[in-house]
Amino acid sequence: MKTKQDKGAAGLVAKDYAWEHRDLLGIEGLSADDVRFLLKTAEGFEGVSTRSVKKVPALRGKVVVNLFFEDSTRTRASFSLAASRLSADVLDFSGKGSSTSKGETLRDTARTIEAMGVDAIVCRHHLSGAAVQLAQSVDCSVINAGDGQHAHPTQALLDAYTIAQRKGLRDSYDFTGMTVAIVGDIAHSRVARSNIRCLKKLGAEVLLVGPPTLVPGTFREMGCEITHSLDEALTRADVVNMLRVQFERLDSQAFASKREYAALYGLTSARLKQGKKGLLVMHPGPMNRGLEIESSVADGPQSTVLEQVTNGLAVRMATLFLTTGASAK
Ligand code: CP
Repeated sequence: MKTKQDKGAAGLVAKDYAWEHRDLLGIEGLSADDVRFLLKTAEGFEGVSTRSVKKVPALRGKVVVNLFFEDSTRTRASFSLAASRLSADVLDFSGKGSSTSKGETLRDTARTIEAMGVDAIVCRHHLSGAAVQLAQSVDCSVINAGDGQHAHPTQALLDAYTIAQRKGLRDSYDFTGMTVAIVGDIAHSRVARSNIRCLKKLGAEVLLVGPPTLVPGTFREMGCEITHSLDEALTRADVVNMLRVQFERLDSQAFASKREYAALYGLTSARLKQGKKGLLVMHPGPMNRGLEIESSVADGPQSTVLEQVTNGLAVRMATLFLTTGASAK
């Protein structure tokens, strides 16, 4: 029997829960139950990476293609390893050096790859909406690994997973009463947009922090509060997620100088002392050390930076497992 009611995370692992998404294009396409179910499913894959034989047969016989038109270290390697650990055949395909340089469209590239018998395409693209367009062009699963400024859903899911792990909330994945501050270049950030959607679905309050040039008031429409003072945010937040300043996406000078940005919005160990006890420090990476985050903080005990990377594997294994329909067999 299929069920769509909000039964809480414990109920969501029941065998009768039906995952009904072929694609993962953005958090907006998921219900709170879907998010909790995916995170609970990820828990089941966590142990695979610590075994001596780091493989399970869940996707044996399936083919996963990584189609990356934009640079990536974490997401690309993570999806590649996640697919391998599920025993899928994996093809890593880069936009650079492909026939896209000869004018082939994204649709034609995707349909060409799909014609080789592919079960899932994991796509990163510099254009917002690319993953949605791709999903409309093919019949296999499409997973958005980051498209322009639009969405980076698996980053938001692995961030939520890490918060729940550190805060002891895995029983419920209920973030009610928690305040998460997202700091920095919100305007250009797909990580911020997906995190806001995911955190709000799980019940958290989201506080956006940064200079007015990088935190437009329109983000209030997503249910967020805005402050331009990191010091104020640190007195209220349970989690602070420091975003990279995306110089490659800035089309005008958004702040006077790097020195001024670091002084106002950089997370230093001196600033961290103002925060609540147990404040978690997150960063999706790659980091501009010394700009948005001081090395002593990035590498310190409150930082979850490397845990986020580790957890990304389990979350991406769950994503591939659910979207390709392997869980239904
Ligand atoms: N966090 C993240 O998406 O990093 P990459 O660009 O290295 O994949």
